[in-house]
Amino acid sequence: MMEILNMRAYAKINLGLEVIGRRDDGFHELVAVLQTVSLYDEIAVAPGPALTLRCDRKGMSGERNLVWRAADLLQKESGTEQGAVIDLMKTIPIAAGLGGGSSDAAAALRSLNDLWALELSTTRLAELASQLGSDVPFFLRGGTALATGRGELLESLPTPEGQWLVLVSPDIRLPGKTPALYGRLGPDDFTDGSETAKLADALRGGGVLPEECMANAFERVADDAFPGLDRHRNAMLEAGAERVHLSGSGPSLFALVRSKSAGDALRLRLGGLGYHGVVVQTVTAEE
Ligand code: C5P
Repeated sequence: MMEILNMRAYAKINLGLEVIGRRDDGFHELVAVLQTVSLYDEIAVAPGPALTLRCDRKGMSGERNLVWRAADLLQKESGTEQGAVIDLMKTIPIAAGLGGGSSDAAAALRSLNDLWALELSTTRLAELASQLGSDVPFFLRGGTALATGRGELLESLPTPEGQWLVLVSPDIRLPGKTPALYGRLGPDDFTDGSETAKLADALRGGGVLPEECMANAFERVADDAFPGLDRHRNAMLEAGAERVHLSGSGPSLFALVRSKSAGDALRLRLGGLGYHGVVVQTVTAEE
Protein backbone atom coordinates (compact mmCIF):
# COMPACT_ATOMS: atom_id res chain seq x y z
CA MET A 1 0.00 0.00 0.00
CA MET A 2 1.22 3.49 -0.79
CA GLU A 3 2.38 5.43 2.21
CA ILE A 4 0.47 8.65 2.87
CA LEU A 5 1.29 10.89 5.80
CA ASN A 6 -1.26 13.39 7.11
CA MET A 7 -0.53 16.32 9.34
CA ARG A 8 -2.35 19.28 10.81
CA ALA A 9 -0.83 22.73 10.37
CA TYR A 10 -2.21 24.91 13.15
CA ALA A 11 -2.72 28.66 12.97
CA LYS A 12 -1.07 30.95 15.51
CA ILE A 13 -1.93 34.14 17.24
CA ASN A 14 0.48 36.55 18.86
CA LEU A 15 -0.25 36.95 22.54
CA GLY A 16 2.34 39.71 22.41
CA LEU A 17 4.36 41.29 19.62
CA GLU A 18 6.74 44.11 20.42
CA VAL A 19 9.09 45.49 17.80
CA ILE A 20 12.38 46.77 19.25
CA GLY A 21 13.63 48.42 16.06
CA ARG A 22 14.87 48.01 12.54
CA ARG A 23 17.98 45.94 11.87
CA ASP A 24 20.71 46.44 9.28
CA ASP A 25 19.51 43.40 7.31
CA GLY A 26 16.11 45.01 6.67
CA PHE A 27 14.29 42.83 9.21
CA HIS A 28 12.99 44.05 12.54
CA GLU A 29 14.06 42.86 15.97
CA LEU A 30 11.12 41.37 17.86
CA VAL A 31 10.04 40.15 21.24
CA ALA A 32 6.89 38.11 20.71
CA VAL A 33 4.85 35.37 22.31
CA LEU A 34 3.39 32.98 19.74
CA GLN A 35 0.58 30.55 20.46
CA THR A 36 -0.91 27.85 18.23
CA VAL A 37 -4.71 27.63 18.19
CA SER A 38 -7.17 24.94 17.10
CA LEU A 39 -7.76 26.25 13.59
CA TYR A 40 -5.75 24.25 11.09
CA ASP A 41 -4.90 23.43 7.50
CA GLU A 42 -4.27 19.82 6.55
CA ILE A 43 -1.40 18.50 4.54
CA ALA A 44 -1.00 15.02 3.09
CA VAL A 45 2.20 13.76 1.48
CA ALA A 46 2.68 10.63 -0.61
CA PRO A 47 5.61 9.35 -2.69
CA GLY A 48 5.72 10.66 -6.26
CA PRO A 49 8.12 10.88 -9.20
CA ALA A 50 8.68 14.63 -8.79
CA LEU A 51 7.28 17.43 -6.64
CA THR A 52 3.59 18.14 -7.12
CA LEU A 53 1.52 20.47 -4.95
CA ARG A 54 -2.27 20.48 -5.17
CA CYS A 55 -4.31 22.89 -3.11
CA ASP A 56 -8.07 23.18 -2.68
CA ARG A 57 -7.78 26.99 -2.73
CA LYS A 58 -7.71 28.56 -6.18
CA GLY A 59 -4.34 29.95 -7.29
CA MET A 60 -2.38 28.32 -4.47
CA SER A 61 -1.08 25.19 -6.17
CA GLY A 62 2.40 24.95 -7.59
CA GLU A 63 5.76 26.52 -7.17
CA ARG A 64 4.88 29.88 -5.66
CA ASN A 65 3.41 28.32 -2.53
CA LEU A 66 5.76 28.28 0.48
CA VAL A 67 4.97 24.56 0.86
CA TRP A 68 6.45 23.87 -2.54
CA ARG A 69 9.50 25.98 -1.68
CA ALA A 70 9.89 24.03 1.59
CA ALA A 71 9.77 20.72 -0.28
CA ASP A 72 12.21 21.98 -2.91
CA LEU A 73 14.61 23.26 -0.23
CA LEU A 74 14.48 19.96 1.66
CA GLN A 75 15.09 18.02 -1.55
CA LYS A 76 18.10 20.18 -2.47
CA GLU A 77 19.59 20.22 1.03
CA SER A 78 19.28 16.48 1.55
CA GLY A 79 20.23 15.55 -1.99
CA THR A 80 17.36 13.06 -2.11
CA GLU A 81 16.03 12.04 -5.50
CA GLN A 82 12.62 11.16 -4.09
CA GLY A 83 9.59 13.21 -5.07
CA ALA A 84 6.20 13.71 -3.48
CA VAL A 85 2.60 14.48 -4.19
CA ILE A 86 1.51 17.06 -1.65
CA ASP A 87 -2.14 17.88 -0.99
CA LEU A 88 -2.96 20.99 0.97
CA MET A 89 -6.41 21.69 2.38
CA LYS A 90 -6.70 25.30 3.48
CA THR A 91 -8.91 26.45 6.32
CA ILE A 92 -6.72 29.18 7.82
CA PRO A 93 -7.46 32.55 6.18
CA ILE A 94 -4.64 33.69 3.91
CA ALA A 95 -2.32 36.63 4.72
CA ALA A 96 -4.38 37.25 7.83
CA GLY A 97 -1.76 37.42 10.59
CA LEU A 98 -2.43 33.81 11.59
CA GLY A 99 0.73 32.31 10.11
CA GLY A 100 -1.08 29.86 7.83
CA GLY A 101 1.52 29.82 5.05
CA SER A 102 4.38 29.47 7.55
CA SER A 103 2.60 26.66 9.39
CA ASP A 104 1.95 24.80 6.12
CA ALA A 105 5.65 25.11 5.23
CA ALA A 106 6.74 23.75 8.63
CA ALA A 107 4.30 20.84 8.31
CA ALA A 108 5.72 20.11 4.84
CA LEU A 109 9.29 20.03 6.22
CA ARG A 110 8.29 17.66 9.03
CA SER A 111 6.16 15.33 6.98
CA LEU A 112 8.60 15.10 4.05
CA ASN A 113 11.49 14.52 6.45
CA ASP A 114 9.50 11.48 7.61
CA LEU A 115 8.22 10.36 4.19
CA TRP A 116 11.68 10.48 2.67
CA ALA A 117 13.28 8.99 5.83
CA LEU A 118 15.87 11.78 5.80
CA GLU A 119 16.29 11.88 9.57
CA LEU A 120 17.35 15.52 9.52
CA SER A 121 17.83 16.78 13.06
CA THR A 122 15.46 19.31 14.62
CA THR A 123 18.29 21.86 14.53
CA ARG A 124 18.86 21.33 10.80
CA LEU A 125 15.12 21.52 10.11
CA ALA A 126 14.98 24.75 12.11
CA GLU A 127 17.78 26.22 9.96
CA LEU A 128 15.88 25.35 6.80
CA ALA A 129 12.68 26.70 8.33
CA SER A 130 14.28 30.06 9.06
CA GLN A 131 15.34 30.34 5.41
CA LEU A 132 11.69 30.04 4.45
CA GLY A 133 10.37 32.73 6.80
CA SER A 134 10.77 34.23 10.26
CA ASP A 135 7.74 32.40 11.72
CA VAL A 136 8.40 28.99 10.17
CA PRO A 137 10.77 27.66 12.92
CA PHE A 138 8.07 28.27 15.54
CA PHE A 139 5.63 26.02 13.69
CA LEU A 140 8.03 23.07 13.73
CA ARG A 141 7.01 22.66 17.37
CA GLY A 142 3.99 24.91 17.93
CA GLY A 143 2.48 25.36 21.36
CA THR A 144 3.63 28.50 23.15
CA ALA A 145 6.99 30.21 22.65
CA LEU A 146 8.84 33.41 23.29
CA ALA A 147 10.36 34.51 20.00
CA THR A 148 13.23 36.97 19.66
CA GLY A 149 15.63 38.00 16.90
CA ARG A 150 13.58 38.29 13.73
CA GLY A 151 11.25 35.69 15.24
CA GLU A 152 13.40 32.59 14.74
CA LEU A 153 15.05 32.41 18.20
CA LEU A 154 12.66 30.45 20.37
CA GLU A 155 12.15 29.56 23.98
CA SER A 156 9.28 27.18 24.76
CA LEU A 157 6.80 28.38 27.36
CA PRO A 158 4.05 26.54 29.19
CA THR A 159 0.81 26.76 27.21
CA PRO A 160 -2.11 28.56 28.86
CA GLU A 161 -4.15 25.40 28.35
CA GLY A 162 -7.86 25.48 27.74
CA GLN A 163 -7.88 29.19 26.93
CA TRP A 164 -10.74 29.89 24.52
CA LEU A 165 -10.70 32.73 22.03
CA VAL A 166 -12.88 34.17 19.31
CA LEU A 167 -11.10 35.01 16.08
CA VAL A 168 -12.34 37.43 13.45
CA SER A 169 -10.43 37.58 10.17
CA PRO A 170 -11.61 40.56 8.14
CA ASP A 171 -11.38 39.89 4.43
CA ILE A 172 -9.20 42.91 3.73
CA ARG A 173 -6.55 42.18 1.12
CA LEU A 174 -3.32 44.13 1.02
CA PRO A 175 -0.65 43.28 -1.57
CA GLY A 176 2.71 42.50 0.09
CA LYS A 177 0.94 42.73 3.44
CA THR A 178 3.72 41.85 5.91
CA PRO A 179 6.51 44.06 4.47
CA ALA A 180 3.96 46.84 3.95
CA LEU A 181 2.94 46.73 7.61
CA TYR A 182 6.54 46.63 8.85
CA GLY A 183 7.24 49.54 6.53
CA ARG A 184 4.59 51.64 8.28
CA LEU A 185 6.24 51.27 11.69
CA GLY A 186 8.17 54.25 12.98
CA PRO A 187 10.18 54.99 16.13
CA ASP A 188 6.90 55.66 18.03
CA ASP A 189 5.93 52.03 17.58
CA PHE A 190 9.21 50.63 18.87
CA THR A 191 9.26 49.45 22.50
CA ASP A 192 11.78 47.63 24.68
CA GLY A 193 10.00 44.28 24.86
CA SER A 194 9.36 44.53 28.61
CA GLU A 195 5.58 44.00 28.39
CA THR A 196 6.07 40.79 26.44
CA ALA A 197 8.83 39.73 28.85
CA LYS A 198 6.31 40.18 31.70
CA LEU A 199 3.78 38.13 29.75
CA ALA A 200 6.36 35.35 29.27
CA ASP A 201 7.18 35.47 33.02
CA ALA A 202 3.52 35.08 33.90
CA LEU A 203 3.23 32.07 31.59
CA ARG A 204 6.41 30.51 33.06
CA GLY A 205 4.77 30.84 36.46
CA GLY A 206 1.73 29.00 35.12
CA GLY A 207 -0.57 31.93 35.89
CA VAL A 208 -3.53 33.20 33.92
CA LEU A 209 -2.86 35.35 30.88
CA PRO A 210 -2.20 38.92 32.03
CA GLU A 211 -4.17 40.67 29.30
CA GLU A 212 -2.75 44.09 30.21
CA CYS A 213 0.70 42.86 29.04
CA MET A 214 -0.57 41.78 25.62
CA ALA A 215 0.88 44.51 23.40
CA ASN A 216 1.10 44.56 19.61
CA ALA A 217 3.34 47.06 17.80
CA PHE A 218 1.08 47.05 14.76
CA GLU A 219 -2.01 48.28 16.64
CA ARG A 220 -1.27 51.94 15.85
CA VAL A 221 -0.74 51.50 12.11
CA ALA A 222 -3.25 48.71 11.43
CA ASP A 223 -6.39 50.88 11.20
CA ASP A 224 -4.83 53.02 8.47
CA ALA A 225 -3.41 50.03 6.64
CA PHE A 226 -6.63 47.98 6.69
CA PRO A 227 -9.68 50.06 5.73
CA GLY A 228 -12.67 48.78 7.70
CA LEU A 229 -10.66 47.10 10.45
CA ASP A 230 -12.07 49.44 13.12
CA ARG A 231 -15.59 48.40 12.07
CA HIS A 232 -14.71 44.77 12.87
CA ARG A 233 -13.11 45.73 16.18
CA ASN A 234 -16.16 47.79 17.17
CA ALA A 235 -18.49 44.93 16.22
CA MET A 236 -16.54 42.60 18.51
CA LEU A 237 -16.82 45.08 21.37
CA GLU A 238 -20.52 45.61 20.68
CA ALA A 239 -21.01 41.84 20.70
CA GLY A 240 -19.53 41.71 24.19
CA ALA A 241 -15.77 41.18 23.79
CA GLU A 242 -13.96 42.75 26.73
CA ARG A 243 -10.75 43.48 24.82
CA VAL A 244 -9.82 43.05 21.20
CA HIS A 245 -6.27 42.22 20.13
CA LEU A 246 -4.59 42.25 16.72
CA SER A 247 -2.76 39.08 15.69
CA GLY A 248 0.64 39.49 14.04
CA SER A 249 0.61 42.29 11.50
CA GLY A 250 -3.14 41.77 11.09
CA PRO A 251 -5.81 42.00 9.99
CA SER A 252 -7.05 39.13 12.21
CA LEU A 253 -8.48 40.17 15.56
CA PHE A 254 -9.13 38.05 18.61
CA ALA A 255 -10.74 38.26 22.03
CA LEU A 256 -10.05 36.02 25.00
CA VAL A 257 -13.17 34.43 26.48
CA ARG A 258 -13.70 32.53 29.73
CA SER A 259 -15.19 29.33 28.26
CA LYS A 260 -16.31 27.66 25.06
CA SER A 261 -19.91 28.64 25.78
CA ALA A 262 -18.87 32.29 26.27
CA GLY A 263 -17.06 32.01 22.92
CA ASP A 264 -20.14 30.54 21.23
CA ALA A 265 -22.30 33.31 22.66
CA LEU A 266 -19.91 35.95 21.34
CA ARG A 267 -19.80 34.25 17.94
CA LEU A 268 -23.61 34.21 17.75
CA ARG A 269 -23.91 37.87 18.66
CA LEU A 270 -21.26 38.70 16.06
CA GLY A 271 -23.26 36.71 13.51
CA GLY A 272 -26.32 38.78 14.37
CA LEU A 273 -24.31 41.90 13.57
CA GLY A 274 -23.21 40.41 10.24
CA TYR A 275 -19.68 39.36 11.23
CA HIS A 276 -18.06 35.96 11.15
CA GLY A 277 -16.25 34.73 14.26
CA VAL A 278 -14.51 31.42 14.89
CA VAL A 279 -14.22 29.91 18.37
CA VAL A 280 -10.83 28.30 18.99
CA GLN A 281 -8.74 27.02 21.84
CA THR A 282 -5.02 27.14 22.62
CA VAL A 283 -3.09 24.10 21.37
CA THR A 284 0.00 22.66 23.08
CA ALA A 285 3.21 21.58 21.36
CA GLU A 286 2.26 17.92 21.84
CA GLU A 287 -1.01 18.19 19.90
O1 C5P B 1 10.41 36.34 7.33
P1 C5P B 1 9.24 36.63 6.46
O2 C5P B 1 9.41 36.12 5.06
O3 C5P B 1 7.94 36.22 7.05
O4 C5P B 1 9.18 38.20 6.36
C1 C5P B 1 8.45 38.90 5.39
C2 C5P B 1 8.84 40.36 5.44
O5 C5P B 1 8.40 40.94 6.67
C3 C5P B 1 10.33 40.62 5.42
O6 C5P B 1 10.81 40.69 4.11
C4 C5P B 1 10.44 41.95 6.13
O7 C5P B 1 10.09 43.00 5.26
C5 C5P B 1 9.34 41.86 7.17
N1 C5P B 1 9.85 41.38 8.47
C6 C5P B 1 10.60 42.24 9.25
N2 C5P B 1 11.06 41.81 10.46
C7 C5P B 1 10.77 40.57 10.91
C8 C5P B 1 9.99 39.68 10.13
C9 C5P B 1 9.54 40.13 8.91
O8 C5P B 1 10.86 43.38 8.86
N3 C5P B 1 11.23 40.19 12.10
